[in-house]
Amino acid sequence: MNTFGIVGATGAVGVEALQVLEKRNLPLKKLRLFSSARSAGKIMKYKGEDVVVEELKEDSFAGVDMAIFSAGGDVSRKFATIAAAAGCIVIDNSSAFRMDPTVPLVIPEINADALKGHKNIVANPNCTTIVALMALYPLHKAFGVKRVFASSYQAVSGTGAQAVMELEREVGQVVRGESVTIEVYPKQIAFNVLPHVDVFLENGYTKEEMKMENEGKKIMSHPSFKASVTCVRVPVYRAHAVAVSAEFEKPITPDAARAVLSKALGIKVVDDPSKNVYPTPLEVSGKDDCEVGRIRIDCAFDNGLSFWVVGDQLLKGAALNAIQIAERLLA
Ligand SMILES: NC(=O)c1ccc[n+]([C@@H]2O[C@H](COP(=O)([O-])OP(=O)(O)OC[C@H]3O[C@@H](n4cnc5c(N)ncnc54)[C@H](OP(=O)(O)O)[C@@H]3O)[C@@H](O)[C@H]2O)c1
Repeated sequence: MNTFGIVGATGAVGVEALQVLEKRNLPLKKLRLFSSARSAGKIMKYKGEDVVVEELKEDSFAGVDMAIFSAGGDVSRKFATIAAAAGCIVIDNSSAFRMDPTVPLVIPEINADALKGHKNIVANPNCTTIVALMALYPLHKAFGVKRVFASSYQAVSGTGAQAVMELEREVGQVVRGESVTIEVYPKQIAFNVLPHVDVFLENGYTKEEMKMENEGKKIMSHPSFKASVTCVRVPVYRAHAVAVSAEFEKPITPDAARAVLSKALGIKVVDDPSKNVYPTPLEVSGKDDCEVGRIRIDCAFDNGLSFWVVGDQLLKGAALNAIQIAERLLA
């Protein structure tokens, strides 16, 4: 590959993508970084070299072979088709194309085959969906999942760089006894939890909450999969956690589930509650693998299993998954 691009390079996901790209040593001759006019001219480092961030424009993609888009849905809707038409393969982190039947929606450990026949746009799934499916899909393959009830505990970096600053500012304001100023979230996030991620829909769920069912059906090729999810924003810097109760077709035991999960790629079993061994966002932050613990029989379902899965949403939920897709496309 000659030229690789990152659109939204200065954002929370873009910064991670730059680091993952360097760490995994993707074979590229030239790297181009794009942002809005606000950050154009900023200098970022790749393998010790300065790369000047360029303002994203319609003619930016000439000669760019592949690009990760992480600048939000509006930018993807406007520029992804322009890039694709210019011959650039777009790996899009926004939700703009995920449910488009002509666009593969891919977690490489689960459905890399879906990349075949792509039309220059590939979608990266929702971060909470990725984290949940990294544990759920291996169990589905072995025991056949019917439906899940889940609650997420989502870090503020999932909303982007501005939200991380909002949490820090509010924590300072509360600690100093000042009044709290709110800009990004609808309510104070410091020392609080918000049952509100993304916009509310007519059915009372949020858009984010419906992604696990809608995207899960597509990724697992499982049209009858059902998911009832409550997404919660928590004052955590990074890594999303999901508490899942799942009902399966076949009988399942915690030992059988652990045996399946311990062989699956990209997920690590961290599960010895009597010794306080279970994953937390702090411990999983910065790690490539998702971690699963608290594996137990679900006492409200027949053939049910409950578990707690945690993943770094900036890595496996976004930048790492996107670069794993790039690696598969190049292979
Ligand atoms: N954060 C996560 O954990 C996560 C996980 C999965 C998916 N995603 C998705 O990834 C995307 C980016 O999220 P983020 O959290 O990285 O957001 P962010 O921190 O707010 O960063 C946004 C990036 O987009 C750029 N940008 C904004 N408007 C632009 C425009 N008109 N033209 C070109 N570039 C523009 C910004 O550049 P400036 O510096 O110039 O403003 C910045 O580089 C979103 O679609 C989000 O849903 C995020």
